Amino acid sequence: MKAENSGQASNIHVGHALKQRFESDALLGASHLPIKVQDSVAMPVIARQPIAEDDAKQRQVQLDVIDNGEVKECAKCGLSNTRTKTVFGTGSATARIMFIGEAPGHDEDMTGIPFVGRAGELLTKMVEAGMGLKREDVYIANVLKCRPPNNRDPATDEILACKDYLWRQIDLIKPEVIVALGAPAAKTLLETRDGIGRLRGQWHDFFPSGTALVGEPIPVMPTYHPAYLLRSPGEKKKAWEDLKMVMARLGLPIPKRR
Ligand code: URA
Repeated sequence: MKAENSGQASNIHVGHALKQRFESDALLGASHLPIKVQDSVAMPVIARQPIAEDDAKQRQVQLDVIDNGEVKECAKCGLSNTRTKTVFGTGSATARIMFIGEAPGHDEDMTGIPFVGRAGELLTKMVEAGMGLKREDVYIANVLKCRPPNNRDPATDEILACKDYLWRQIDLIKPEVIVALGAPAAKTLLETRDGIGRLRGQWHDFFPSGTALVGEPIPVMPTYHPAYLLRSPGEKKKAWEDLKMVMARLGLPIPKRR
């Protein structure tokens, strides 16, 4: 009770001081207060979780079982008729950061590896030169495991058919942070209709259980898709701001930009 009262008293003091400041600034001709708005709310740094070697091996084995035993044979949607190769995902089974894109393109369909075309080269640059990490230390996957013909947008029924694979990848890898690359990935994970321009630059919660009532959320940072950044290089600065928020959240050093 006492603490509450003293809190109220200090609020009144702050309010009074602000009122005085408004009045004196107004007398001096100022029309607004020079308050610095924070770019983002400070978020707690996530500490690195130690992972036993056996656990890491088990995760990789289980990922391989899904890939080789299910995804490579998958015929849950029409894309199985047009794909060359399925594209499951690459990287560390114990990655702290998971990057999730939209769907394989031509180069990925030919090789079976995500993000190896021009957009992939830029993503690798963002991870390695930008964030100072190695591509093999993060995990990279897509919402869809097969290429839509002519790189058209994924259809809702394709996303629904494929989603379970991604959810199981996330469940096994247990990333501390997810970076959603572009609108389809962000919308699928966050079940929102908001566009990427509105979603990016802020933390969102992904609930692996499908409900906020069960289990811990995984923080998601939506950002621009590298293919969009190739078309709109002026937006790279914003993507870099997003990645810096990811580094800060994980307590990783932020390399100076050359
Ligand atoms: N675009 C994606 O979303 N994923 C890829 O793997 C390649 C390009």
